[in-house]
Amino acid sequence: MTSHPHLRPDLALRSGYHSPQVDVAVRLNTNESPFPPPAGFLDALSHAVATLDLHRYPDRSANALRSGIARAEGVDSSMVVCANGSNEILQAIVMAFAGAGRSVVVAEPTYALHSHIANLVGCTVVQAARRSDFTVDVESMITAANASDAALIFLCSPNNPTGTLEPLDTITALVERTEAMVVVDEAYCQFAPTTALDLPRSILERVLIVRTFSKTWALAGVRLGYAISAASVIDGVTEGLLPYHLSSLTQMAGTLALDFASAMDHRVAAIVEERGRVAAALDEMPVTVWPSNANFILFQPMSANADAVWQDLVDHGVLVRNCSSWPGLSNCLRVTIGTSDENTAFLNALGGALQ
Ligand SMILES: Cc1ncc(COP(=O)(O)O)c(C=O)c1O
Repeated sequence: MTSHPHLRPDLALRSGYHSPQVDVAVRLNTNESPFPPPAGFLDALSHAVATLDLHRYPDRSANALRSGIARAEGVDSSMVVCANGSNEILQAIVMAFAGAGRSVVVAEPTYALHSHIANLVGCTVVQAARRSDFTVDVESMITAANASDAALIFLCSPNNPTGTLEPLDTITALVERTEAMVVVDEAYCQFAPTTALDLPRSILERVLIVRTFSKTWALAGVRLGYAISAASVIDGVTEGLLPYHLSSLTQMAGTLALDFASAMDHRVAAIVEERGRVAAALDEMPVTVWPSNANFILFQPMSANADAVWQDLVDHGVLVRNCSSWPGLSNCLRVTIGTSDENTAFLNALGGALQ
């Protein structure tokens, strides 16, 4: 691709990040929900859309949606801010709390958008180490944050793409032993046994918990995410957002989705069960598998080449994520947990590809 001479040279996301959207029957590459939202939700949404005053700007502070999320999470609505996907939340956090010339700490391999957004706004991105089980090396993270006077530390838990859940002690240590705001990206927390919200609420003065409707809520196409933190921190994040950024349609979809929480819980339970089945089957194959607390599993063929395995899977109608060019993930692939049939198709195709 040729780029325009006026374009910033540092704009591109790191090579190998974008997942090719190959048109195949089984798409297990972007950690979406394999199930569409419940039919009752779609009915409620189509009726509700007719009641919206679309000639008016949306509620700028998304009051109904924020109150609904706050009720569901057991916090005050002043502790919630919503945006177009958690990506926009992450961007607002970086704009509001970091910005040009300040440092942020990440530990690769992790969600690429943390460092990408930080780079885009002119932050210095400082790397901390991970241990061999992919949990972050807490001492390395504390040293990196203090040495760079970091404004933000990004912790992704469960971590994309490794599936690693960080112990809650790690968050406490980062808060107690650094001056930085700690961003805990919990896009996949519903698939895990613990969340940063289990910590004493006072920690939220220094911790921003970031969540999404894209996974559990089966609403990746709606683009809705939110952050939970102390009210004063949330006020800060709001400064990083544009006025009227969240459409009335998105606000309505999110508010209605909250009525279907138990349907979503059932889906999470089904995915967690399937994750166990897929992990057990992978354990029987010539691949290294990392334990996952998310809706995906990272694995590494022991003797086969991951690029060749990825292509073989595509040739058999199954798309997974090729992570082999990502930092610290040589020869690794990541599979999203799909429906039972999709997972079986993946396991059969992988068995063939590894022969
Ligand atoms: C860790 C993590 N955070 C945030 C996101 C972005 O999600 P959203 O669709 O809410 O922007 C993703 C998407 O894959 C993710 O993996």
